[in-house]
Amino acid sequence: MTSNTKYILALDVGTTGTRAILFDRQGAMVGQAYKELTQYYPQPGWLEHDPSAIWRDTREMIGDVLVNTDTLASEIAAIGLTVQRETCLLWDKTTGQPLHKAIVWQDRRTTARCNQLRAEGKAAEIQERTGLVLDAYFSATKLGWLLDWVKENQPEVNLENVLAGTVDTWVLWQLTGRKVHATDHSNASRTMLMNLATGHWDESLLSLFGIPRYMMPEIKPSLGCFGTTNPELFGVEIPIMAVFGDQQAALFAHGCDRPGLLKCTYGTGCFLVAQTGESLTRSHNQLLSTVAWTQGQQTNYALEGAMFTSGACIQWLRDGIGLIQSAAETQALCESVPDNNGVYFVPALSGLGAPHWDMKARGSFQGITGGVKREHLVRAVLESIAYQVKEVVDAMNKDGDQPIGLLKVDGGASRNDFLMQFQADVLGIPVERPEILDATAQGAAFGAGLAAGFWTRYEDLIAQRQVDRTFTPGEGQEQAQAHFQVWLRAVERAKDWMI
Ligand code: G3P
Repeated sequence: MTSNTKYILALDVGTTGTRAILFDRQGAMVGQAYKELTQYYPQPGWLEHDPSAIWRDTREMIGDVLVNTDTLASEIAAIGLTVQRETCLLWDKTTGQPLHKAIVWQDRRTTARCNQLRAEGKAAEIQERTGLVLDAYFSATKLGWLLDWVKENQPEVNLENVLAGTVDTWVLWQLTGRKVHATDHSNASRTMLMNLATGHWDESLLSLFGIPRYMMPEIKPSLGCFGTTNPELFGVEIPIMAVFGDQQAALFAHGCDRPGLLKCTYGTGCFLVAQTGESLTRSHNQLLSTVAWTQGQQTNYALEGAMFTSGACIQWLRDGIGLIQSAAETQALCESVPDNNGVYFVPALSGLGAPHWDMKARGSFQGITGGVKREHLVRAVLESIAYQVKEVVDAMNKDGDQPIGLLKVDGGASRNDFLMQFQADVLGIPVERPEILDATAQGAAFGAGLAAGFWTRYEDLIAQRQVDRTFTPGEGQEQAQAHFQVWLRAVERAKDWMI
């Protein structure tokens, strides 16, 4: 690393958009650039992304943040890459072209395949090997679907030239000028193809899902050198020093490096992740065991409650049904009414994740009467995000020895004061919101900067983070908790909807 470097560049390639953020030596954000990503819904329950657009936006956002902050690429010490997890694609390494759009983590098209595997009695073995619940959420059945599609629709493709990957692998391959085909353990642990205990691709799972070993990327430690950027892109070679799944990156940013520490990110989905240290802990309450991150020979594990719809249902209110103009207005709308007026929303737009794991559940509004107004519908949607988190906190409490006493949050929707206060009320514990809500990008930057020697002490980086506000349970507590019980009934009615 040369001495004139001033910044770490974090790339957060998320579900709804791509963000590039520069962090200085003090760990402060000095500038950012963001672009929304088009969502393709070819059929109900399906969701695709254009991989070429993901790469184009990544390149453009890097260019934009450099221009916005008047920074030279040579001033960047290292890049940290964090991505939406499970979303996967196939591409031809000779042409560099994707063979199909990427299938997004929320996509339910492989539900029947999962059910078939369940009927064949495979669920327990898969969970034992991967720590994951058999569900269409994860990459394995999606990659199987893509491979079948290519064989059927593009018989001219030479399969020996095909590479598979999650979004990190795709972006890394492009950043390095098509030289590095790799992923890290935190992303690999979400494919349902990695053995959680060994940290290697599991031969029996590759064969079960029909994925040839040679198509899969090399799995590397999350913190460490993944290669350097192609000098043709930015004029210099910048080392890529960390790769994380976005939820694991946020865990890293919150300083959750010891058992008992946890965070909840309100992004497209909502993900509550608890660090379990170097021991692989198994859940008895429908949570996932997963890799938090790896460095050298050390693996840190985590327990996770994955809820599929959080910001996604606010985006649906805006883009899908036009009930709001912007996410920001939901706070005032929710606060303009004293309660939900009997309306409950089940946010099963992509089925239900933890703790239900029902791929056939679908979203619904229930309890509508003549007096219900737009404000009540919006409030019901926001409340449902908090109810889901309450279910997962309850599951974590059943799994752990110590009840959770504080919820550290981040992500776009945590900006909403109504939601955070309601969250504290329904949980009955304080909710702590940091000043920087982009914890995913911050975690990727911290990891890359530490691995590059740009920073030396993780503790110092964590210590300089500031709390913006702590929401304590208030007078709405009793009502929120009573309404949670009604919402649980609504969830039961939304289950198993699809035939
Ligand atoms: O598992 C999916 C998750 O990684 C997506 O994260 O931030 O796009 O909601 P986000």
